[in-house]
Amino acid sequence: MLNIRVQKTSNPKAKPAAGKLGFGQYFSDHMFVVDYLPEQGWVDPRIVPYGPLSLDPAASVLHYGQAMFEGMKAFCGVDQKMRLFRPDFHCGRLARGAPRICMPPVPQEIMMQGIEALIRVDQDWSPQAVGSSLYLRPTLIGTEAFLGVRASQKYVFFIIMSPVDSYYAEGVSPVRIHVEDKLIRAAPGGLGDVKAGANYAASILASTEAKKSGFAQVLWLDAVERKYIEEVGTMNVFFALGEKIKPTIVTPPLAGTILDGATRSSTIQVLRDLGYTVEERKLSMDEVVAHHQKGTLREAFGTGTAAVISPVGELHFKGEKITINGFKPGDLAQKLYEEITSIQYGKKSDRFGWTKEVALD
Ligand SMILES: Cc1ncc(COP(=O)(O)O)c(C=O)c1O
Repeated sequence: MLNIRVQKTSNPKAKPAAGKLGFGQYFSDHMFVVDYLPEQGWVDPRIVPYGPLSLDPAASVLHYGQAMFEGMKAFCGVDQKMRLFRPDFHCGRLARGAPRICMPPVPQEIMMQGIEALIRVDQDWSPQAVGSSLYLRPTLIGTEAFLGVRASQKYVFFIIMSPVDSYYAEGVSPVRIHVEDKLIRAAPGGLGDVKAGANYAASILASTEAKKSGFAQVLWLDAVERKYIEEVGTMNVFFALGEKIKPTIVTPPLAGTILDGATRSSTIQVLRDLGYTVEERKLSMDEVVAHHQKGTLREAFGTGTAAVISPVGELHFKGEKITINGFKPGDLAQKLYEEITSIQYGKKSDRFGWTKEVALD
């Protein structure tokens, strides 16, 4: 067991009202912090009052963007047990991605024990309302004060927690999406499959423009030909094509430019368990348009930790509007949302072994 020092706040904050949490607006009273030093490695894991970090203005993260993060949730179940959803997946993804931006991988035991210790200290921040959860944001940054362009020798890994409402206040609802055919998010050989802050910096302009035009998000195309579908906003994307009863489900492959989503992986497992054929392969917008014209584009939906499943009701591509399933959430999207959230809230047995119960005091 890690020896985690705990310094409790003497000034606990007032808890926000249930149903008014939104996403990422409020933060619990404490945070987990651990330093990485060149000779010693990971030192001084601690839980301290939530507050500003002290960074040298020359810290590498502020100049060359050595930063990556995770986004995961803990749920208070119908049985009052706290469950983390796919924590191993998230720890593994952070550890796998770190070397691509020359950062030391955070050992799984440090991240897991940090998460669990923080939840224990701030367990009264866990919202109880159906659909709400504790969103965890583990973050790794380069902190060495040095302006040469090379990897930082010092790092800080911290975890903060935010109570969040359900993404859907009034049930799963479809979104309008702009197919972005000029700006790109990630190119082959780049950082697309790493949860690096840089990918989000690259994506904000397109999503800002899309939102100004009334779209919820953009659908990203590949960087080379602007032809193949990659992701939708900060979600992986799935298309149900062909037969009405048991369509084939197609999702872009993990080939380095998209994130390997925990919800993507869970969705694929549920679909296969339900007897669907899932193809992880390249899918062009032309193929989607052809299915739309034939009447065999059944459903499209994004998958991600925030929304779980987000049905796509409309795609706007080169001036054309493609309406999917009459702008209604599809049966498959609804079924997947139910299956995954039932496991998250302990309503259904966890037949895939996705959750980890957090031992509370
Ligand atoms: C770019 C991107 N793609 C996909 C996802 C979905 O991943 P996950 O299901 O692990 O939340 C996210 C969100 O984390 C993301 O930021």
